[in-house]
Amino acid sequence: MKNELTDVSRREFLKTATASALALVGSATLVSALSGCGKDDPTSSRTGEKVSFNLNESGFEALRTVGGILRRNFGANRNGGRDVIIRRVAETEFRTVSVVCPHAGCDVGTPTQTQVECPCHNSVFSMQASNFGARIGGIAPRGLTAFETAFNAETQVVTITF
Ligand code: FES
Repeated sequence: MKNELTDVSRREFLKTATASALALVGSATLVSALSGCGKDDPTSSRTGEKVSFNLNESGFEALRTVGGILRRNFGANRNGGRDVIIRRVAETEFRTVSVVCPHAGCDVGTPTQTQVECPCHNSVFSMQASNFGARIGGIAPRGLTAFETAFNAETQVVTITF
């Protein structure tokens, strides 16, 4: 009799333990599916690497005048291989932001002079000089990630720190 009770208890324990384990696996799968691209922070791709280009080089024509905007990719180790948007906000001042939406990691669309929109859930970010990259609408928790951008007016070289 004592042994029977122990067997029943053991069976109940195993049933409960198995159900708990399955629930845990299910939760992990659900969390992973809900987190978009599977990263906790879709914008965390800083490497500290500096990339420079001369405004007189072909491909950078858009940045030769104040207000110009350029969307560009700088390779695998820069912003995780994703594009950045660069704007010349003043004669000697440039700003650079990642295209990666801080909500779930989609690439934002084509920037206009005033804003850029994320096609996934319609968050909107400013492209204006005064608040370049700031979130101005939608579900995104913050603005686009900014990369430090320096300009040497003498040499016309722009340097972005990724
Ligand atoms: S990924 Fe959801 S608003 Fe951009």
